[in-house]
Amino acid sequence: MSETAVDDLTEAEARSELQRIADQMALADRAYYENDDPVMTDADYDVLRRRNLAIEERFPALKRSDSPSEKLGAAPSGRFAKVRHAVPMLSLDNAFNDDDVTEFYDRIRRFLGLEGDEEIALTAEPKIDGLSANIRYEHGQLVLATTRGDGAVGEDITQNVLTLKNVPHQLDSVPDILEVRGEVYLGKADFAAMNEALAAEGKKIFANPRNAAAGALRQKDPSVTASRPLKFFAYSWGEISAPLADTQFGAVERLGTLGFEINPLMARTLTTAETIAHYRSIEEQRATLDYDIDGVVYKVDRLDWQQRLGFVTRFPRWAIAHKFSAEQAQTILERIDIQVGRTGALTPTARLRPVTVGGVVVSNATLHNQDEIERLDAREGDTVVIQRAGDVIPQIVRVVTEKRPKGTSAYVFPDHCPVCGSRAVREENPRTGERDVVRRCTGGLVCPAQGIEHLNHFISRKAMDIDGLGERQIRDLFGRHLVREPADIFTLQERLKDNKTIGTSDLQSYKRLAPTKSRPHAVWTDDVTNAKSLENLFAAIEDARTRPLPRVLFGLGIRHVGEVTGRLLAQRFESFERFVEAGRKLADGDEEERRELISIDGIGETVADALADFFREPRNVSAVEHLMAQVTPPPVEKVASSSPVSGKTVVFTGKLEEMTRDEAKARATSLGAKVASAVSAKTDILIAGPGAGSKLTKAESLGVQTMTEGEWLALING
Ligand code: IVH
Repeated sequence: MSETAVDDLTEAEARSELQRIADQMALADRAYYENDDPVMTDADYDVLRRRNLAIEERFPALKRSDSPSEKLGAAPSGRFAKVRHAVPMLSLDNAFNDDDVTEFYDRIRRFLGLEGDEEIALTAEPKIDGLSANIRYEHGQLVLATTRGDGAVGEDITQNVLTLKNVPHQLDSVPDILEVRGEVYLGKADFAAMNEALAAEGKKIFANPRNAAAGALRQKDPSVTASRPLKFFAYSWGEISAPLADTQFGAVERLGTLGFEINPLMARTLTTAETIAHYRSIEEQRATLDYDIDGVVYKVDRLDWQQRLGFVTRFPRWAIAHKFSAEQAQTILERIDIQVGRTGALTPTARLRPVTVGGVVVSNATLHNQDEIERLDAREGDTVVIQRAGDVIPQIVRVVTEKRPKGTSAYVFPDHCPVCGSRAVREENPRTGERDVVRRCTGGLVCPAQGIEHLNHFISRKAMDIDGLGERQIRDLFGRHLVREPADIFTLQERLKDNKTIGTSDLQSYKRLAPTKSRPHAVWTDDVTNAKSLENLFAAIEDARTRPLPRVLFGLGIRHVGEVTGRLLAQRFESFERFVEAGRKLADGDEEERRELISIDGIGETVADALADFFREPRNVSAVEHLMAQVTPPPVEKVASSSPVSGKTVVFTGKLEEMTRDEAKARATSLGAKVASAVSAKTDILIAGPGAGSKLTKAESLGVQTMTEGEWLALING
């Protein structure tokens, strides 16, 4: 959606914009805080929040009573007791680039009235993508733990926090009142294991560690929380009866010595350059950390300065979160896998070390095709920049070559199908001479990756059209290894009868296969003893043995051989045997066969190549031979054999006046003529309209009979 710039908004537009933003953010808040199931990326959320602020700044009178700028998050969900925080739990302002960071420094300098060259020490530490919690100790005893909630009121999660292994229940020599604040999170490895277990139980998995942590923390039953390996990083404090130190760094270190886990990447920086350098270094380590982070938090180190700086509505003036760009992240390309699609396309998939991008854990990315891998020079072991945009599959943007490990070599794209071992080829476009970007498995009939799809095509209505056999039955039969290639359909009854490959129990289990909508007469009825339906199926299969050749050829699912081409091929070869014979010759590179084939109008280089590729795969040949032994298509009807042009090879050239070229060809074909596109010694008749050129000259030189459109019409209309 294109948005009007805030400066150009009319008052009325501004009002409705504020409403739209408030609605969207409320929706996003509910999804995020209450359902732990975000509907918006952090970056998009920030865009909305900023636009809202900018509009409110320009039209202060329009600020809504439920303005998102006043809110800190969702209200408590109502399942846990509500607790008002002794000290509000605030949020952090965001910096999205280096300029925002410089501005942060400038603001502090201005606010404190510091000289331009006075040093401002900051702490810089990862911003953990988890849930903040406040843990209250009285006289060293853990008495209460709360969520942030809306910042003013949180939820009592004491029982759940007590199950966290790295949170001390008791502290020695601490202020009487001490509230430790930090982030509850779930490690990436633990998250992956948890999702795996959930998936194995058939349960819904979590989108990211943060949601999983939220789910675990908000469990009513603490034993469930205990079974999830949540951890806690301490980075701040709330109410406190005596200071822990006089710097931020010192106070957090003190929390460390008290037994809390503190983040090892926290550093003290003295200049803007140092701060940014630390940010970059953390960003680089992001993928290898076992927990998700989404930025780096800077805090003014001197606590007396923090005190003076104080707060604006939602944020402390003394801290800011420098966010990573939300949609990109670096991670390790662990492996390149090749997947074989239903059409035989070999698609490379990058297996990544899991990393969170835009709030979602990404462990796979598409590499599209061979050319893309070569363009990127992506190698196993490389560090790569990945990008996610909306719902599209994550992509690899580039390889960080500086981080390439020693001894890697360029990825070699397989030239054989990893599923069935058949040759995998890149077709050449005969017109442009360019190779198809997609490499495809040629084992159409034998490749398990394509098997089901091929069988479905084979039995489909326009091909063999077997009543009682639908996609569900094929999936079932394929899964049981009862039908792996077309010929198996025809031997099924025999095998069932002999009871060699299928036991009675297998038959029994057919019970659960109900008829499908598209095939109401499916045999897999609720009643196995209903021998009638099985009989019907086998009758339908028997019937299919004599399907016309065009349907059989179309049913083979050879690339570029659709219904029309199937018919042309059937007419050309007249029998299944002769077709197979020709296919083998093509595969052997027989030029004569190829020339004849492509002289048929409607059949070009592409089909010839596809047939050659198909028959070059020995397992396709054997599958076709098996099928040949099962089916007996009736001889191809000599179309209108009594017509005077039946069996003649004709060529049209020049402008036709009585009908379109397509119409003329269709008419000729239906009368049993073969329509070719080029004139050769085999041409019987050339029909030349006005403007005929080289074809006419050639026909004349070869002594081929030529006629006008009118003469041709007179001939065929008798
Ligand atoms: S300090 C008053 N430090 O980020 C400042 N917050 O967007 C209190 N967070 O609610 C926060 N890592 O849940 C701080 N190292 C860190 C953090 C951190 C993650 C979270 C925290 C806070 C949110 C603000």
